[in-house]
Amino acid sequence: MSVLTPRQAYRLWAPHYRGDNALCVLEDQLVSSLMPSPRGRRLLDVGCGTGLRLRDCGAAYAFGVDASPEMLSAGGLTNVATADVRALPFPSNHFDLIWCRLMLSYLPNLKSAYAELARVCCDGGQLMVSDFHAAAIQAGHRQTFRDTEGTLHEITQYRHDAIAHEAAAAAAGLTMTLAHDGVVGPAIRPVYERANRLNMYARDEGLAVVVLFLFQKGYDRVSDRSL
Ligand SMILES: C[S@@+](CC[C@H](N)C(=O)[O-])C[C@H]1O[C@@H](n2cnc3c(N)ncnc32)[C@H](O)[C@@H]1O
Repeated sequence: MSVLTPRQAYRLWAPHYRGDNALCVLEDQLVSSLMPSPRGRRLLDVGCGTGLRLRDCGAAYAFGVDASPEMLSAGGLTNVATADVRALPFPSNHFDLIWCRLMLSYLPNLKSAYAELARVCCDGGQLMVSDFHAAAIQAGHRQTFRDTEGTLHEITQYRHDAIAHEAAAAAAGLTMTLAHDGVVGPAIRPVYERANRLNMYARDEGLAVVVLFLFQKGYDRVSDRSL
C-alpha cells in the first residue's frame, strides 16, 4: 500500500469521493446536533472537499475553499475556490462562521492554520473544527481509500490532541467554548451494516474516532463575555 500526501490522494480520490463513510456520517450527525446552525450567517467552509456540506446549508452567504481543484470540480459548485488553509484569499474579519471539517490532521503543524482561520473570522464570530481523533490515530487507525483501479492507498496524517488544538487556537486569539468526542456506537451501526463491515463495528465500538471543537474570536472565558 502506498502512502500519499493529501494533495496526491485527493487528486486520485476526487472522481469517486462520497464522504459517506462511518466517520463522516458520525461527524455530520454531531455537527447537526451540537454546533451552531449556519442559517442566516456568512459561512466559509475551509477544506470543503466537493462542497457537499455547503449544499442547502441555509447560510445567508456560503463559500468553500479546498487545496484540491479536483475535489472542487467533482462537486460542481460555483461558490468555491482553490486555496490552502494557511493562505486564505479573503480580507480579515470577513466571515461570522467558519467550518474546518476533517482536514487539520493533514497538517504537520496547526499554528499557521489557526492564525489564518482566526484572521478571516470577524470579532465575535465562531470557528467550528472537526478532525480525526488523536486516540484513533494512536490506536493505529489510518485513513485509506481505493483509487479507480481498486488499489488501496493511505493518506499521511499527523496526530494533534485537544491540547495542541486549544494552544494553537489560543495563540491566534480564539477561545475554545466546546469540545466533544465522537464515539463509535449504535447511531452509526447501520453504516457499518450497509458496508457489510459489522466485524469492524465490533472492533471500533466505544472508540473515539472524531473530535469537534467550537471556538470564538474575541471572547473572554474568565468574565464570560465578548472582549
Ligand atoms: C476528508 S476531506 C473532508 C471534506 C469536507 N470538509 C467534508 O467534511 O466533507 C479533506 C479535504 O481537505 C482538503 N485539504 C487537505 N489539506 C488542505 C489544506 N492544507 N488546505 C485546504 N484544504 C486541504 C483535501 O483536499 C480534502 O478535500
